[in-house]
Amino acid sequence: MTRATWRTRVGFVLAAVGSAVGLGNIWRFPWLTAQNGGGAFLLLYLLVVVLVGVPGLLGEMVIGRRSGRNPVGAFGTLGGDRWRPLGGLALFASVVVLSFYSVVGGWILRYTVASATGAYFPAPQEYFAAIDYGVGAAGFHALFLLATAAVVYVGVDRGIEVATTVMVPGIVLMLGGLAVWAGTLDGATGGYEFYLSLDLAYLRANFFDVLGAAAGQALFTLSVGAGAMLTYASYLGEDRSLAADGTLIAGLNTGIGVLAGLVIFPLLFSLGVDPGAGGPGALFISLAGAFASLPYSRLVGIAFFGVVLLAALSSSISIYEVLVSYLVDEHGASRGGATAAVGTLFLVTGTGAALSPSLFTLLADTIANLALTAGLLGFLLFDGWVLGRLALEEYELGAGRIATLAGRPWFVAIAVILPLFLAFTFVTGIGGVVG
Ligand code: PFF
Ligand code: NA
Repeated sequence: MTRATWRTRVGFVLAAVGSAVGLGNIWRFPWLTAQNGGGAFLLLYLLVVVLVGVPGLLGEMVIGRRSGRNPVGAFGTLGGDRWRPLGGLALFASVVVLSFYSVVGGWILRYTVASATGAYFPAPQEYFAAIDYGVGAAGFHALFLLATAAVVYVGVDRGIEVATTVMVPGIVLMLGGLAVWAGTLDGATGGYEFYLSLDLAYLRANFFDVLGAAAGQALFTLSVGAGAMLTYASYLGEDRSLAADGTLIAGLNTGIGVLAGLVIFPLLFSLGVDPGAGGPGALFISLAGAFASLPYSRLVGIAFFGVVLLAALSSSISIYEVLVSYLVDEHGASRGGATAAVGTLFLVTGTGAALSPSLFTLLADTIANLALTAGLLGFLLFDGWVLGRLALEEYELGAGRIATLAGRPWFVAIAVILPLFLAFTFVTGIGGVVG
């Protein structure tokens, strides 16, 4: 059977942007920003996105396009069988990420439905505490997973490409509308100030913690390290510049992320809530509280949680696809069989995270960062030390003059400098877990 390819280049870019834009931008980013000192975190995060995330994204996509395979198959095809286990790191990262991601997806789904009846309006705090973990959370997680599986099942070009081509422009339009509306709220300026405040004393006192969190979030937001971008690039049939597309994808993700911040922070501050207090549920509690006091609160709730749901789905399908492509490429599974097998796996792991708050938090704020870092480290070392010249050639394939000039510095960065940086954040990250 021939492997699927994207129908259009725009379709590929939109699918990749759909993967990048997600709960990372809307839920995880404000949570971590508040936990790590506001603007100081934002600054380091943006630096790491540009210096590590973008070259790393290209390093990952190069392997996918060159091999036309999933992460494990790519390492085997390009480097020989003994490299296959290194590709397994990315599969592991995919499992870690989707196991908690779909639980948050379930929360979002529930809030979208609950907005229609206003169920959370009278007591936002109690509402979240009643639904966050447990059997109900496991059920909504399963529904979110089912929606993800349905898109993946239909296929790369007819399922993922069609769905994301509709979703991504929808997300941008709705976020834009919400950002304009949020700017009209009383107290919005407080939100912008927090977003842009730079607490240098905090940064100096907690530099390595903030750096580690910023680095993990930079990979997370670009969907780098779990093989999602590698897998998407493996469905590229033609030779246009990856450098141009990678930069475009990262730029759009950052732009949409900033737009999401312009919705979230004014909303939170219009009610005087501290986005950091209360951990992963803070966003839900405070936004739900904010919506309750607004005119047209149900409509606002449906619009907001609906757009977040689309963003979450367009990301979860990219993670799901990594494992499906692995089973199809390497084990000769049918798409239907692979989709069912992957769904069963995530039904189990996600239910674990939906029932156990401590497992959830461990996966979401610690293991995910470590796993993505290890996955990307594997890709970059493979580019630099196994593929070597071929990686550079692949990067320059179809590239314009500027991208070609950037080829050598890029290669030095991914072969040497970024691996050192990632190894460092990995080790300090482990230190944080153990210590
Ligand atoms: N980039 C997604 C987000 O910001 O929500 C999350 C993600 C998707 C991480 C795909 C990793 C991945 F492979
Ligand atoms: Na993102």
